[in-house]
Amino acid sequence: MISTLPYTPTLDTLSRVRLEIRALQPQLVAWRRRLHQKPELGFTEYQTAEFISQQLTTWGIEHQTGVAKTGVVATIKGHRPGPVLAIRADMDALPIHELNDVPYRSQHDGLMHACGHDGHVAIALGAAYYLSKHQEQLAGTVKIIFQPAEEQPGGAKPMINEGVLRNPDVDAIIGLHLWNNLSLGTVGVRSGPMMAATELFQCTIQGKGGHGAIPHQTVDSIVVTAQIINALQTIVSRNVDPLKAAVVTVGKLNAGSALNVIADSAHFGGTIRYFDLAYKSFFKERIEQIVSGICQSYGAQYTFEYQPLYPPVINDPGMTDLVRSVALSVVETPADIVPECQTMGGEDMAFFLQEVPGCYFFLGSANADKGLAYPHHHPRFDFDETALSMGVELFMRCVEKFSSL
Ligand code: NI
Repeated sequence: MISTLPYTPTLDTLSRVRLEIRALQPQLVAWRRRLHQKPELGFTEYQTAEFISQQLTTWGIEHQTGVAKTGVVATIKGHRPGPVLAIRADMDALPIHELNDVPYRSQHDGLMHACGHDGHVAIALGAAYYLSKHQEQLAGTVKIIFQPAEEQPGGAKPMINEGVLRNPDVDAIIGLHLWNNLSLGTVGVRSGPMMAATELFQCTIQGKGGHGAIPHQTVDSIVVTAQIINALQTIVSRNVDPLKAAVVTVGKLNAGSALNVIADSAHFGGTIRYFDLAYKSFFKERIEQIVSGICQSYGAQYTFEYQPLYPPVINDPGMTDLVRSVALSVVETPADIVPECQTMGGEDMAFFLQEVPGCYFFLGSANADKGLAYPHHHPRFDFDETALSMGVELFMRCVEKFSSL
């Protein structure tokens, strides 16, 4: 079962990882690379789910497939009574054409595991395998949730709706993201908000088109849109408390078809990010106020759509303390724990954390010396696979600590 990949673990980084998990490292790498070669988009992770299910079956682990279409949920019951802890791993890839020239390069043209979710699945499989070999010592139950479609439209919510946190009822949840903004050997842990709420908006400005040389007979949708986009920049700078972080980004703008024609309509849209739930409906209202006010003053019409995609990822203080103390026991020095690790990126792990206390954390995976430091979602993204066994060790220590509380 142990493959013979040309791989040398960094001994220092793994010095506090138990031998049994260190021995799994080549297998974790093999799983990860197999998954990397077969990336699948959200809710189409059929091969991924089948592979997960095959492995779980081989190890005799009870599991359910087809949860929220392609999700898989494994349940490992300990031989002693105790609480129920869930471990969540997302499994979808991105519509990116891989530019890495590696033997395990994506075989699905135009698709790539460019966020590390292949690693998340490998770590979760490692955890499942390890737990299945240690059921006598395990107190309580561990549910391993292989979740589809994190990148959009989101698989966490439908999994919750299908009862993934019930029967047996989950007491707490943990999850990790391999993180290339942090070096291998470090762990980012933060209590409270650590990833932002993600909301999307789209807007069409309907003016009155006409000849580029006869503007007074038109309502110029491009001029109106330009005013709106400029005014949107004042939301963060003038309306949001300067001590609170927020982003308003207009990422898309389409208008016009010819240099001498005034565009009849213009279309634009973007994304909103914030941490504080006090701003839950604020951005929707404020953006529409600006759109509506400017349109009115220029005689234009508009349509406005707003979609709150994911809430902020908010970690429970108690579960964060647990993860932090576990991480401290795995990293080389306390300085390897990055305490105020926050990003304006979004994550639908947020929905699980709204239901049960939990902690989502970052596991450093960058290694610039090996050229493994491209950012997430980059066509050359790759990570140091040494992080895989470190991830399994972290999860196992969390399970052990949680069940002995
Ligand atoms: Ni991701």
